[in-house]
Amino acid sequence: MSAVIEVNPLEQFSLEPLPMGESCLLVIFGASGDLTRRKLIPSLYNLACVGCMNPQFEVLGVGRTQMSSEEFRAKMRESAAESSDARDFNEAHWKEFEQRLHYFVGDPGDESFYPTLKERLGEIRKSVATPNHLFYVSTPASVAGPIVEGLARAGLNRSEEGWTRIILEKPFGRDLESAKKLNEVVHRWFDEEQVFRIDHYLGKETVQNILVFRFGNSLFEPVWNRNYIDHVEITAAETVGVESRGAFYEETGALRDMVANHLLQLLALTAMEPPIAFDADAVRGQKVQVLKSIRPMTVDQVAKRTVRGQYGPGEMGVKRVPGYREERDVKKDSTTETYAAVEFYVDNWRWAGVPFFIRTGKRLARQASEIRVHFKPTPQALFAGTSSDQTGSQPGPNVITMRIQPDDGISIAFDVKQPGGHMRALSVDANFSYDTAFGHKGPPAYETLLLDSMRGEATLFTRRDEVEAEWRIITPIEEAWAQLPTPKFPNYAAGSEGPVEADALVSAGNAAEHRVWRRLAG
Ligand code: BG6
Repeated sequence: MSAVIEVNPLEQFSLEPLPMGESCLLVIFGASGDLTRRKLIPSLYNLACVGCMNPQFEVLGVGRTQMSSEEFRAKMRESAAESSDARDFNEAHWKEFEQRLHYFVGDPGDESFYPTLKERLGEIRKSVATPNHLFYVSTPASVAGPIVEGLARAGLNRSEEGWTRIILEKPFGRDLESAKKLNEVVHRWFDEEQVFRIDHYLGKETVQNILVFRFGNSLFEPVWNRNYIDHVEITAAETVGVESRGAFYEETGALRDMVANHLLQLLALTAMEPPIAFDADAVRGQKVQVLKSIRPMTVDQVAKRTVRGQYGPGEMGVKRVPGYREERDVKKDSTTETYAAVEFYVDNWRWAGVPFFIRTGKRLARQASEIRVHFKPTPQALFAGTSSDQTGSQPGPNVITMRIQPDDGISIAFDVKQPGGHMRALSVDANFSYDTAFGHKGPPAYETLLLDSMRGEATLFTRRDEVEAEWRIITPIEEAWAQLPTPKFPNYAAGSEGPVEADALVSAGNAAEHRVWRRLAG
């Protein structure tokens, strides 16, 4: 590209018009919580700024914390102004937007709350002409069932004149049994078309792009199988610790928090067959097939094919940070894992024998979410020993890296002849970056998902059978971990690569020396 025209972020986004959401009254359960403040309100504010918000749209935040609508607006304003997700925060826009925000104190666990909620919604509807209700359940999974029942008892699960939809935030249950129970409660009162189960990874541009990259190009599909691919490495490494979420995390752990949803979704998108169309049922149907093909593990296999870790104190850059057990609301002898690595196998024709290595952890050396597809070496090592790099290492097999974040993009590693008199092969990267190519990364995930739910577009939400298939994979691992001896925690220092045992999972266990995790540091 020879010239870059600089425009402010909002103008850039307006170049690419997004559709407008349908009119509705959005009710957020858990409105005094972290997610509402950090993600939902900044996303709604953005949608209003870029003109995607229907003029007939109001938000009613519901929570147990005592506060007035004015106090709620002030609190939300503070977070939106600080949020990196709120593009171009400006007072005039905010003043206009905040008129749509209301707050209602109530305990969603108390049956008598729902008739009063219905009354309050009736009052708001006097000033906003919409028959549609969108309920967002952003509460601990154990409260989701009672909310669904409460809404239904008050007759709020259906609307005569318009639509009613319900968004359920993850975690959806905490194991297969609780997820099934929650699904039963939900489906007693709502049809699947009304239900939007959120996995925010699916709203990320780079995650949606996996499908375009795989199925919009004819180049990759012929080699996207066990004949050419050696292994797949999927990482979601975070530098943050558990922050203020110690109590939640103690109950959850890395496997439930990240692998049971975000990472299995990345795996499913990487491994799925082409859908017959890009619509909710076709795409989700193919993902479910992959999830159902993942080989369930016995206790012995869990012992060999999984690694769990917990961070101890360490250095993050120049800052000394406490270990997990020193975090607020965490037990001093906690055995909750903050790191999980698993080797999965997808038992179908395309992927038989190809390991999918997955790892995620908090307080690791670098933030990186990426999928690395490692191809097999060439059948004949024609240029072996020709590398001129000082380590004397051989040029490696091809690797396609889909960078989910940060530095969103895709790179392809391949060998070229190093210029000069000798026939020397060198590995280079062809790199595509969202920032360089488009000047921006696209809307944040929650913005996309909120807009989709207001439009009734469910492709980027998980279906009933999909969440159950995810838990069918994860629950045996959780159960085996409960039986197996707990590793001596903490077993990795904050700021490190994670537990050393994870290295053996990728290489020694497979007697394949060329298999190593991409290093996070350096
Ligand atoms: C959430 C997890 O679902 O995803 C968090 O509960 C995690 O623990 C977060 O930090 C990561 O999301 P992102 O978009 O920041 O990668």
